[in-house]
Parts: sequence; structure tokens; C-alpha cells
Amino acid sequence: MNIAELSKLHEESLAEAAAAADAAAVEQARVKYLGRNGLIPAVMKQLRDVPAEERPAFGKAANAWRQAFEEALKARSAALEETCGAEAAPAFDFTLPGRWPQGGSLHPLSKVVAEVARIFARIGFTVADGPDIENKFNNFTALNTAPHHPSMDQSDTLWLTDDLLLRTQTSPVQIRTMMSRKPPVRIICPGRTYRRDTMDATHSANFHQIEGLYVDTKPVSLADLKATLAYFAREMMGEGIGVRFRPHFFPFTEPSVEVDFTCHVCGGKGCRVCKQSGWIEVAGAGMVDPRVYRFVGYDPQKVWGYAFGFGVERIAMIKYGVPDIRHFYENDLRFLEQFK
Ligand code: PHE
Repeated sequence: MNIAELSKLHEESLAEAAAAADAAAVEQARVKYLGRNGLIPAVMKQLRDVPAEERPAFGKAANAWRQAFEEALKARSAALEETCGAEAAPAFDFTLPGRWPQGGSLHPLSKVVAEVARIFARIGFTVADGPDIENKFNNFTALNTAPHHPSMDQSDTLWLTDDLLLRTQTSPVQIRTMMSRKPPVRIICPGRTYRRDTMDATHSANFHQIEGLYVDTKPVSLADLKATLAYFAREMMGEGIGVRFRPHFFPFTEPSVEVDFTCHVCGGKGCRVCKQSGWIEVAGAGMVDPRVYRFVGYDPQKVWGYAFGFGVERIAMIKYGVPDIRHFYENDLRFLEQFK
């Protein structure tokens, strides 16, 4: 072998190192040139056969080759690692179906609240708001609740201090609204309410109500209340839903009624859901008691009005056929996805 042949091998080896496609190819080139039976050691062995006057130049060239080749291998390995990791990355399969982002949706309770607000907006009701933490005056006293009424007891109401509590109903928003505005007042108030209840299929310690209040300076009657709730029943549940009033008692309305809709399951014939009665209770309501007007500074001789309060969960359970109130709070996607 002469110097020219050596430099040709030198060039070839560098080209091979640079072209190695992956870590295995780099290793293959290393074995070919630097391995025990590789080309570079073989050339080194030939050194002693080279004529003495050419030997220094040949030896120098051989050493330069080894060094250059080692560097070329190192550089190639580093380049491969940088572009696709030590191992080649698995090929990307363009034919696989894409993964779509999961779209969210409104919670069924939010949907009911939004729909109720839309229905009442069409007959002039606006949405009012109040805090979850109320004082005793707004939640009980001004709503004409007797000082020792059992609903105020520790066992029913979540008290925070002697005066502050988690509101047990949305009715205190009636008080706040009347204290801050002159009649006519036409509001609904959706919101969270709290009671010291044990959870079961139809009860929760934290549920939602929608309060309604209409007070005007011209006569308003129980018939107006009934017509309003019948309109609401039709819009919310569909044509053919009947509404009935049963006499009841609330401290802040007189007369007071409980409101039933015809059972959406059997249409009024009687079934398991309505306990064979044909009716489902959905709200409390009544004509605002004159004493409440006195508490908020309205003249009971000059105003007339009604109030009502729905349970949001109850409406949602009826409308969507949800058998257990606890589904609303568990955030199980299999349940929530039905409302997309
Ligand atoms: N706040 C009452 C309740 O929680 C419902 C109601 C509201 C009754 C308005 C009459 C008028 O049961």
C-alpha cells in the first residue's frame, strides 16, 4: 500500500462515518475500520514493510487517518442523538384517526337556570342576585318568620355566627330587592341554598332554588300567579302540562300554596314516579304577606304581589328524567355527557 491508496481509504472512511443512518450503522463503520481486524490496524501492521525513507510520512498519514476517523464517528453519533434520540423514533402513522379535543358543556343545573331565566325574561322578569351568606333579618325576620320558628334551629340551619348563616332559601333576595327598589318589581333569583339535611336520592344539604317576585302598585291576584306558573309549566315542560295549587303555609305569603305540575311520566294517570297521584310538587308560592311589605318599607295598602320558589334540581330531575339528585354533584362524565 502506498500513501495515495491510504489517503483514498481515509476519504472513504470519513464519508462512510458521515453517512451512517443510525447508531447501528455508526457501530458497523467503527468495527470495519477500527475493530481488531479492521482496516486501520491492518494498515498500522503494514508499516514495517514500508521502505524506511517513506515510513515517517506513511506513519504520520496513518495516525492522522485514525484520529480523523475517530472524530468523524464521534461527530456523527452526536448528530444522530441530537436529531432523533439515541434510538430512531418510531415512525409516525399518518393514517391513524386524530384525537379530537373533548368539548365541555353546560351542567344540567346551569341549563335549567338559563332556560328558566329565558322563559321569565319574555314576560318581563329580570335576574336578581344575593349572597350565599345572609343575615338573620333577610333570611328569617323580614320574611315574617316567628322568633322561635323551628326552621331557625341549629338542626336545620347552618349558622356561621349569632347573626350570619348560609341562606336556607333564595327568599332573602326578595327582601334585598324590595329594600333597594320601588315597586313595580319583577325578578327571578337563581341561587345556591343550604340546609342541614342528610343526603339521599331526593335531598341535598346544598341545592339550588329559583325565587320569583312580582310586586306592583295595581292589584295583583292569585289568578295572576297561577297564570304565570301555568305559562312557565308549558314553556318548560311542554304543552299539556297542568298546574294545581294546594293550600299550604309559608310565613312570608298569605295565602300560601304548594304548586304541582301534572306528572310528566304518566301524564296524570298515576304511576310510581308520582306515587299514583298524577301530580308532582315543584314549588312553593303565595301572595306576599303584608307584614313583609312593612319590614321592607313598602305601604301594604298600596302594593300587591306574589312570590314563588322552585327547586332547580327538582325541575331538572323531572325534565331530564334523572332518578337521583346525587348525580348532579358527582361530576361523572358518563352522566354529564348526556347533556351535550
Ligand atoms: N322559600 C320557600 C322554601 O324554601 C319557597 C317559597 C318561595 C314559598 C316563595 C313561597 C314563596 O320552601
